[in-house]
Amino acid sequence: METVVSGIRSTGNLHLGNYFGAIRNFTKMQHQHKCYFFIADYHSLTTHPTPENLHKNVKQVLVEYLAAGLDPEVATLYIQSDVPQVAELYLLLNMNAYMGELERCTTFKDKARSQPENINAGLLTYPVLMAADIIIHNATKVPVGKDQEQHLEMARTFAKRFNRLYNIDYFVEPHAFNFGDSLIKIPGLDGSTKMGKSESEGNAIFLADDPKVIHKKVMRAVTDAGPTKPNQEKPQPVQNLFNIMKVVSSEDVFQQFEKSYNDCSIRYGDMKKQLSEDIINFTKPLREKILDISANKEYISKVAREGAEKARESASKTVKEVREIIGFKPF
Ligand code: TRP
Repeated sequence: METVVSGIRSTGNLHLGNYFGAIRNFTKMQHQHKCYFFIADYHSLTTHPTPENLHKNVKQVLVEYLAAGLDPEVATLYIQSDVPQVAELYLLLNMNAYMGELERCTTFKDKARSQPENINAGLLTYPVLMAADIIIHNATKVPVGKDQEQHLEMARTFAKRFNRLYNIDYFVEPHAFNFGDSLIKIPGLDGSTKMGKSESEGNAIFLADDPKVIHKKVMRAVTDAGPTKPNQEKPQPVQNLFNIMKVVSSEDVFQQFEKSYNDCSIRYGDMKKQLSEDIINFTKPLREKILDISANKEYISKVAREGAEKARESASKTVKEVREIIGFKPF
């Protein structure tokens, strides 16, 4: 059994791509390993949200992950800022993180380029905070996408450096949790290969989307003029619709549209109507759960409180030991 830590960005609602990607793996993983999942609200301060938005976003993310199947009785599910020990470990690790390596980090360089008016120190030390998130529970595995691999590498660097500096074998080195081929990639409705990758409106179907909204998005999905030769290769945007259909519709329905594409009798309007119906049916129970949980203030507050307690237990043990190793002693 591994100890797994994963931080969840607290911005943006969950879409079908998230559902078939990370979330399905989290809900499986929680039964196989010791899992800590948290909402990274400290991290989100790098973009200066208003207090109202900060709170609203954290709540929405928490509610949607619960609705999608994260079980707070099984995994430890918490909000990062409820565990201030993370901030203390971050401060301590910052003393051994070097300007050069932080400035060379790709995500920092990207952010500095995209928000030149707000290149704050939190952005620069983002990888240090992320390292603290991970090693505070002595995690061995971190389920991360390609874009986070450099951060994970830095977490290993900081863990090893601490061990070397104090000549102690204390922190373990965290490695990427590899899902192998089990990741299903959901494409966007705008012809892009990955749902959520582009900002264009109507690219993603959100789990909380109203049926009317889903219908509108699907009917507006990008296609082409239709096949003119039998068994023609599908252009990307059309292939995308088939890929989504593959996961939300029945095999029969999928085959029926495959066939009509291949004999050139397909009408995209019919396909979209069917697809929108099937997406609506697929997301209906999720949407209902989201609405239910969202209205249940007591439940949300209980989940957050109990998650914070469990996470603090593990985090405060680490911070206590780290303080001793560093040489803080009571007088
Ligand atoms: N940086 C991650 C992201 O953008 C979120 C994150 C913060 C995280 N702390 C973490 C992920 C610790 C894994 C482990 O998606």
